[in-house]
Amino acid sequence: MTAFFMPTKEKKLSSALIHWYNKSARDLPWRRTIDPYLIWISEIILQQTTVDQGLPYYTRFVDRFPDIQALAQAKPDTVMKLWEGLGYYSRARNLHYTAKYVYSELGGLFPDSYDGLLTLRGIGPYTAAAIASFCYNLPHAVVDGNVLRVITRLYGLQLSIDEKEGKNEVQKRAARLLSFQQPAVFNQAIMELGALVCSYKNPDCSNCPWKKDCKAYGKDEISRLPIRTKKIKKRTRYFHFYIIEYKGQFLVEKRLAKDIWRDLHQFPLLEMAKETFSNEKRPLEWILPKEAIFLSATQGKQTLTHQKIEAKFFHYRVSRKRSQERMFWVQYKSLLGHSWPKLIRNFIEESLLIG
Ligand code: ADE
Repeated sequence: MTAFFMPTKEKKLSSALIHWYNKSARDLPWRRTIDPYLIWISEIILQQTTVDQGLPYYTRFVDRFPDIQALAQAKPDTVMKLWEGLGYYSRARNLHYTAKYVYSELGGLFPDSYDGLLTLRGIGPYTAAAIASFCYNLPHAVVDGNVLRVITRLYGLQLSIDEKEGKNEVQKRAARLLSFQQPAVFNQAIMELGALVCSYKNPDCSNCPWKKDCKAYGKDEISRLPIRTKKIKKRTRYFHFYIIEYKGQFLVEKRLAKDIWRDLHQFPLLEMAKETFSNEKRPLEWILPKEAIFLSATQGKQTLTHQKIEAKFFHYRVSRKRSQERMFWVQYKSLLGHSWPKLIRNFIEESLLIG
C-alpha cells in the first residue's frame, strides 16, 4: 500500500501523532543518527530497560565501542562488563557475535533491507523494523511493548497480547497506521506516545493526540487493556555463596554453564534445596580448610524475569591458599573490575569488608 491509498482515518491519526511527537519528543542521542550500528546498539539496550535506565548504558557502550570494528575486536569480558546490570546477557553475547560477523563477513556494512537484517543473530522482527525504518526510512512498523499497549487501547482490542493472534492483530493495525512518507518518525512517535502518555499505569489521556479516537478511553477500559493471559510463574532458587578471603584476595570463578548469568563472575556457590537453605553455613570441605575462620553471613535476593534468587553469603578467612580448578584469586580492589550479577555486585559494594 502506498501513501496515496492510505485510508483517511489512518492518515489523520498518523498526522496527529507526528504533530504531537514533533512538539513533545525527548531529545535522545539515537534519534540524532541514522548510523545502523548506533541504532542497533540502542534498540537492543532499550528492549530490556526504560530510556532513563538505558541511556547511561548506551553512552558508555558507544563511547567504548564507537563503531562495528571496535565492537568486533573487543574482548568478550569487556563487552560483558559494559552490559553488567542490564540483564539478558545472551543479548550481549549475540551483539558481539553479530558485530564480528558483520565486520568480517559483510565488510562492516549492515544489510540495508528488513529481510537482510532479520538474518543476523539477535535481530528479530522488532529490531529489524526499527533499523530498517530509522536508518533507511523503509515502511516497517515496529511493535514493542509500548506499541502493543497503544494500539490495543486505541482500537479497544479484546485479544490477549500474550497470544499470537493478538500480536498479529496489533502488527496489522500498526502497519495500516504507519505513515509511508515518514516511517522513521512515525515509529519513534508511537513508541514515545507509549512511554510518555499511554503508560501502563496512570496514562496521561488528557494530553493524548488520539484521545477522541481511543476506543478504550471512550469505553472507560484503559485500565483493563491490554489483556494479558500468560502470567510468568517464577521459580525460586536458593544459593549459598562462599566468600573465601586469603590476605585480601578472594576466590572467584566465571559462570560457564548454560544458565542465568553465563559469563559473569561469582564466588564459589552451592545451590541448595529450599529445605536446606536456611541451615547455617555448611562445611565446604572441597574448598575450606578446617582452620578457616568464619567472619559473617549476609542475605540478599534478586528477582529475574523467570526466577527469584535467594542468597546467603558466608565470608571466611583462610591462612592457606588451596587452588581450585577453574577458579582464581582476585585482589579486593580488583573485584569490581570483573562483571557480576547485580545481586553479588551489591553484596561486594555494600557488605564485603576486608579484615
Ligand atoms: N524504546 C525502544 N526503542 C526506542 C526508541 N528508539 N526511542 C525511545 N524508546 C524506545
